[in-house]
Amino acid sequence: MTTFSDIALPQLNVLDSSMAYREAGSPGGPIALFLHGNPTSSYIWRNIMPLVAPVAHCIAPDLIGFGQSGKPDIGYRFADQVRYLDAFLAKSGISSAFVIAHDWGSALAFHLAARRPEFIRGLAFMEFIWPMPTWEDFHAAGRETFQKFRTPGIGEQMILEDNAFIERVLPGAIVRQLTDAEMAIYRAPFSTRESRVPTWRFPNELPIAGKPADVYSTVERAHVALSRSSYPKLLFVGDPGVLVSPAFADSFAKNLNNGRVVHLGPGLHYLQEDHPEAIGRATAEWIKDIEAIHRN
Ligand code: BEZ
Repeated sequence: MTTFSDIALPQLNVLDSSMAYREAGSPGGPIALFLHGNPTSSYIWRNIMPLVAPVAHCIAPDLIGFGQSGKPDIGYRFADQVRYLDAFLAKSGISSAFVIAHDWGSALAFHLAARRPEFIRGLAFMEFIWPMPTWEDFHAAGRETFQKFRTPGIGEQMILEDNAFIERVLPGAIVRQLTDAEMAIYRAPFSTRESRVPTWRFPNELPIAGKPADVYSTVERAHVALSRSSYPKLLFVGDPGVLVSPAFADSFAKNLNNGRVVHLGPGLHYLQEDHPEAIGRATAEWIKDIEAIHRN
């Protein structure tokens, strides 16, 4: 039977709203914290978490405004996402974790790691947010579209009215075709103009050519901290990728301590939809190896 709705996730009261989370594995193991990006949710980790569950207690929150989490009346700026995620972690009693992050989840992870390096047992990331000095650094095929997303009036029409992040960006940045059932689950949180504000805000927060200034400097500082850090890192990359190409990933990893790159093969932005098995198996092996070193 094909189901067109996701399982109902458990919820935590967080600040003035609630946040949903997906869970797998057994409490008692090290925590693996999965952080998604725009416009997805913990659903994007559904085929990866079962592969990591044998070695970790997997927790994947839906960011505020996404998936089954609440949609409080806030701006959905990066700083708002930081506030809600911090509160979610405090409420869940998570003080240390392997973090596996994608897209805006990576910016949240880098910022968390810069503020609380002791939190991070290891950081796996893919299609990650980095401060792009110019628009030339942004993938050529998507440049004009993302410039329109950031143009007042036009961006609102495309994303709030026409739901472009769900209807065009998401399926356009996956190699395989999502099924109707998968698309229905990704669509469900964004049925109205108001509900789509979080998906509009994120492309307006991308740190490109110094703007927005506050996000640009926060992400820049987080990347300096990442390059100086010593915790283990695992970087997944697809070919050709969108935010991160194979060549960029290889040169980026040369500046990391204790980091390595996993080349997944054909992939665009939402690598978890094209390579869940490879990501899940490599993440599980990586966690198992790090835990074994700590035990010995
Ligand atoms: C983003 O959310 O940053 C993004 C999504 C798809 C393609 C490129 C960037």
